Amino acid sequence: MTNSDDWKAHAAALIDQLAEQGIATDPAWRQVVATVPRHVFVPTFYSDDDPPQLLTADDRRWLDLAYSDDTLVTQRKEHPDQPGFAWSTSSSTRPSLMLRMLHILNVHDGMNVLEIGTGTGYNAALLSERLGSARVTTVDIDPELTDAARVRLAQAGYTPTVAPHDGPQGYPPRAPYDRIIATVATEQVPRPWVEQTHPGGLILADIRPRGMTWAGALARLTVADDGTASGPLISCTWGFMSTRPDVARPGTPDMVPIDATTVHTRTSEIGSDALRTPGLSLLIWQRLPGINAFPGPDSTQITTPDGSWAKATKTAPAKIEHGGPADIWTQVEQAHKWWTDHGHPDVESFGLTVSPNEQRLWYQAPDAESWPAPDSPTT
Ligand SMILES: C[S@@+](CC[C@H](N)C(=O)[O-])C[C@H]1O[C@@H](n2cnc3c(N)ncnc32)[C@H](O)[C@@H]1O
Repeated sequence: MTNSDDWKAHAAALIDQLAEQGIATDPAWRQVVATVPRHVFVPTFYSDDDPPQLLTADDRRWLDLAYSDDTLVTQRKEHPDQPGFAWSTSSSTRPSLMLRMLHILNVHDGMNVLEIGTGTGYNAALLSERLGSARVTTVDIDPELTDAARVRLAQAGYTPTVAPHDGPQGYPPRAPYDRIIATVATEQVPRPWVEQTHPGGLILADIRPRGMTWAGALARLTVADDGTASGPLISCTWGFMSTRPDVARPGTPDMVPIDATTVHTRTSEIGSDALRTPGLSLLIWQRLPGINAFPGPDSTQITTPDGSWAKATKTAPAKIEHGGPADIWTQVEQAHKWWTDHGHPDVESFGLTVSPNEQRLWYQAPDAESWPAPDSPTT
């Protein structure tokens, strides 16, 4: 008996575990998870050890982990400008998040789906099992990954269209789609996704800043006849890795050179804990596009692309040090004031409208108040 012979029992246990979390409730998706062999898509992956070990089928932990509700990192690469440190550049997403998203995607027989971020191919296999391979297209920027995924998909009996392609461009040869699902994060919903989706179709995107990834959310957007797409944000604290700008570069934040020769100090009623507060962190990101946050044990430093920076201790009254062209902590304070005045809304109180010229965050309803609020210097 090989390490993988009892995979069906492992898949069944995974479904039970997901059902206990209230996730695998749809019998159709339960059947899909029971049928698709996840281990075929993750012949190797990295352990959580420090440093990470590459596990193979020979390792006694391999099959248990392949059917765990964990994200399995399958590829790591050094950033060309930061030698010596490897970033995760591909993974098989934890099944609970994948199923949650597939449920939100609300697919039906006969629909065409584009997945952005093929990775291992496991999610494309889930979609192919549910809709039939002919209805599924999946793209990844890394041809090594698409080649490997195509082989594994075929091994498991699926033949979706798998193409090496830059995801933000969508995939015109197979458009239009009824559904687009992104399993990689972007800061904006790319315009081609809207253009390549049928009116009435859905886009499920993971939008989050590269430099403050916990501040993001899933956006479930319905495409309208007029070329816009709009819909609610859905809470998702631990989302996806950010898109790579090209195959050789992990989707890491751009480092901003800062000048710390002149340091201003003051106190604030808002400490750096604000940066981690769901709902509020989304607003801070919208006020400070391109924000990077560097949490330390006692304080967090933030930077913006213009070279402004601020360092705040955790709790109020917080000690603020700042420098560069603007005191950016005032933006955090203004976001906090708006958020407090509106009763501490969470992520799901907001939504997004994408039109040809802008991506607009709104509060409670598409035609209601926009964010950043009009008084903001960044609007
Ligand atoms: C979290 S993994 C996707 C998991 C995958 N859906 C699965 O089932 O295994 C994210 C993937 O997005 C890909 N990616 C990153 N930047 C991209 C880009 N610009 N265009 C397309 N794919 C990209 C990565 O190469 C990686 O494989």
